[in-house]
Amino acid sequence: MKRSILAALGLATGLALPAAAEDIKVGLLLPFSGVYASLGGEIETGFNLGLADFATDAGVTFEIVREDTEVSPPVGLAKTRKLILQDEVDVLVGIVSSGVLGAVRDFVDGAGVPLIVANAGNDEATGVACSPYITRMSFSNGQVNRPMGTWMAEQGIGKVFTLAPDYAAGRQMIEAFAETYTAAGGEIVGQEYTPFQKTQDFGPYLAQASASGADAVFVFYAGGEAIAFVKQYDSFGLNETLPLYGSGFLTSPLYVNAQGEAAEGVITALHYAPTIESDANQAFVAAYVAETGRVPSEFAVQGYDAARALVEAVQSGATDRDSLANALRQVNFDGPRGALRIDPATNNVIQPIYVYETVAGENGLTQRVIAQLPAEADPVNGCVMAPVSN
Ligand code: PHB
Repeated sequence: MKRSILAALGLATGLALPAAAEDIKVGLLLPFSGVYASLGGEIETGFNLGLADFATDAGVTFEIVREDTEVSPPVGLAKTRKLILQDEVDVLVGIVSSGVLGAVRDFVDGAGVPLIVANAGNDEATGVACSPYITRMSFSNGQVNRPMGTWMAEQGIGKVFTLAPDYAAGRQMIEAFAETYTAAGGEIVGQEYTPFQKTQDFGPYLAQASASGADAVFVFYAGGEAIAFVKQYDSFGLNETLPLYGSGFLTSPLYVNAQGEAAEGVITALHYAPTIESDANQAFVAAYVAETGRVPSEFAVQGYDAARALVEAVQSGATDRDSLANALRQVNFDGPRGALRIDPATNNVIQPIYVYETVAGENGLTQRVIAQLPAEADPVNGCVMAPVSN
């Protein structure tokens, strides 16, 4: 590590760089199979595009070792150990599931290897279990959902039924939503958690929601579960009677066209929509479309920004894993989603949140941004940020 990052520094100060032996080794930890496989592929595409855009002048090359975490905490931990102990990577990037992030946290922290989280929103990883080696460029589960609780209550929606998969992310997203929604006067009239990666038939839960007296349903689902849920909600006839809201992963541009008409009219909140009107976003969307033929999703932008953060941290003069971890915490740029910075109190990204409705567009479904809610830092949630120690 020392050699490779010093080499990058050398180039930054005008010294010639030895070639390939001075690569920075990146361990890319993503689900390439299971219910979140498409998310992993999209983050990888965004990450590679980010390296192509930002690393050309960095004077260093990045060697990538990719590992499939599946959507399994023990598999994710085994792959993390392999990347650190056997491949001796300089830095880790990725992790989609909050459960996997929870499982690898202690090993990563103990090994002193910087980890750039490119999805998993696990609040504890930037709260009570925060680490100077873990920096999140994606979102936290609380951050995405707190503003939506207040916003929905302000829209006059008085009673809500909630649903989410039964694991850390599902529970944290719903708890954050419920906290601000009830504080603003809303009432939660029912709440169910569905067995994660096992629920194929949402019918019994939809029947409960329908009978609950709610004015609306608020959910978190992502990936394959989001596709099944939105389609079943519509075929149950609920779209006509009970408006569907959620965190925006529900209707991600990555799979919204697989949901088809069933997704029309669903209103969600998220840190990114490809229709955000800014020069930085329009340039990113054009580059992503040119590369893949598809508009980018939140997962793509998270991979892209993770690559940019890594390159900027290396360019800022990091000389070893500890200084790379410190440099990652100081990353700060205007990207496709707006102005981003890392909160030094928690190492979580601070960014605006957008409320968007899924609507029919010229080339399939698209996102109509209804509101931009201000960027807020998460509460520290018990984080006491230790200094890097190795
Ligand atoms: C998570 O487990 O933290 C998670 C997974 C998929 C998402 C969002 C959060 O789309």
